[in-house]
Amino acid sequence: MVTELAEAGALTPQWRRPFETVPRHVFIPDTVWVEEGDLLVPVDRADDEAAWLELCYADESVITQVDDGAPALAGRVGREITSSASRPYVVARMLAALDVQPGMSVLEIGTGTGWNAALLAERLGSDKVASVEVDPVVAARARWVLGQAGYEVTVMTGDGALGFPERAPFDRVIATVAADQVPHAWAEQTRPGGRVLVPWTTDFHNGALVSFVVASDGTMRGRIIGNVAFMRLRDQRGKRASLKRHVRDVPDARRSFTETHPYSVLGEYDASLAIGLKVPHCKLIVTHEADGAYTVWLVDPWSGSWASLEHRTDAEKFPVRQSGDRNLWNEVEAAYRWWDGLGRPTADRWGLTVTPEGQHVWLDTEDRPVSR
Ligand SMILES: C[S@@+](CC[C@H](N)C(=O)[O-])C[C@H]1O[C@@H](n2cnc3c(N)ncnc32)[C@H](O)[C@@H]1O
Repeated sequence: MVTELAEAGALTPQWRRPFETVPRHVFIPDTVWVEEGDLLVPVDRADDEAAWLELCYADESVITQVDDGAPALAGRVGREITSSASRPYVVARMLAALDVQPGMSVLEIGTGTGWNAALLAERLGSDKVASVEVDPVVAARARWVLGQAGYEVTVMTGDGALGFPERAPFDRVIATVAADQVPHAWAEQTRPGGRVLVPWTTDFHNGALVSFVVASDGTMRGRIIGNVAFMRLRDQRGKRASLKRHVRDVPDARRSFTETHPYSVLGEYDASLAIGLKVPHCKLIVTHEADGAYTVWLVDPWSGSWASLEHRTDAEKFPVRQSGDRNLWNEVEAAYRWWDGLGRPTADRWGLTVTPEGQHVWLDTEDRPVSR
């Protein structure tokens, strides 16, 4: 795994030794889950040690908790991923971007398995690392495993959105859980000039990694430096969209056509990032048919509005249906045109500023804010 990460350019020389020293499998629980369609199916180490080990050392995230620890379906089958060991490639890239130096103190948000905390402790020393985990069972396990592995990292059980005031200030904060609204506490608890790394997400778009620098007035600003998808902070989970629950009154839906190809709006990373800035409370579901045709569904689980866009091979116009108070397709198409009109900015041109009053998003410079 380490060789692969190095070859992929994800491992900096300073992080190579910690990755070689800290065994990932020690931090992975004996039961993990794998995705089978919509379901999360358990894999037990006791049943197939080789398969379990394979999961531990593949360059993939490993699902370590479903449905907040109480699998929703019979046979410990789960519906939602609620804790995981992040993909090693992403862990390595984020640690490199954190830009730590010996002597620095780091706060991690989202302890999960404890593997990332152990890597930090191996590089900086256990006394320099603190981590916050919201789930008490996950936190207790991480605390225990870290101790067994020789890392006396402080793991606090609590809401990471509040940071860890008792241990502040930190030189670095690394969130391994995504935020839609980035908590100001993370800026407040970081020394001026320090860095805060956050996977940032919107309802429409899966996520971008933002690297903030904290100013002496306690605000922080940063730009998007990469593409990452993380689960959200527990309080910011929002609502899950479902075709069964939210798509109603199909025969009465308002019908039209569009010449905008669904892929250009939904398949391009930079476009969907920009659309997420403009169109709140809009979730995306895609259903596929056997002949290669697909339908894009836009669902607002808060208001119950929905829209669908049917893609048929070789078609030049695509049928649209919209229902509810919002015309979600019109909103998404308008946001796409706005992004197109701006000259199709790439993700790295967007930035965020976080103040005690909240956050705002800008393009290139702070005097070009985005309003919804
Ligand atoms: C992707 S996992 C973190 C991976 C972890 N760093 C590792 O090395 O295994 C995200 C974790 O964030 C936790 N989490 C979710 N909301 C949180 C919150 N508000 N505060 C602290 N942790 C939270 C989840 O319970 C989950 O364990």
